[in-house]
Amino acid sequence: MTIADEDLINAAKEARRNAYSPYSGYSVGAAIVDDRGHLHVGCNVENAAYPLGNCAEAAAIAAMVQQGGKLIVRIAIAGGSGAIAPCTPCGGCRQRINEFANADTAILVMDDSEDWREYAIDELLPASFHLD
Ligand code: THU
Repeated sequence: MTIADEDLINAAKEARRNAYSPYSGYSVGAAIVDDRGHLHVGCNVENAAYPLGNCAEAAAIAAMVQQGGKLIVRIAIAGGSGAIAPCTPCGGCRQRINEFANADTAILVMDDSEDWREYAIDELLPASFHLD
C-alpha cells in the first residue's frame, strides 16, 4: 500500500498538533515514508533548558530508524505561519535528512494552508558533508 502525498501531508499536520513548543510558540510536525512504505511521525519538543529542544524532523527520523527504516523516500514538514512559513528544515535537520536520503528523496514543506512545495536534498544542502 502506498501513502499518497495528501495523506503524508495530513500526517505531518496532525503530528504538529501535538508539538510541545511553549517557548518559541513555533510548532512543527514531520512525517516520513520509508523504503518499506511505512509511516513515521514526529513533532518538536522544547525544554526549559533551551538547547535541549528537539526538532520535528529529528523525532521522525529517530522513529524511522528505531522501526528499521533505512531510507527517507518522502518527508513532509508542516510548520510556520505568516512571515516564517512554510517551515523549511533548519541546517541541522538538512544534515539529518541527508544521512538517510538519496537524490530521489522528496522533501515537502508546508504551513497550515493547502499549499506545499517540494525540494530535493541537493537543493537544500548542496555540497554536503558525508562519509562514504
Ligand atoms: N524546528 C523544527 O522542529 N524543525 C525545523 O526544521 C526548524 C525548527 C523547531 C525547533 C524549535 O522548537 C522551533 O521550531 C523554533 O525554532
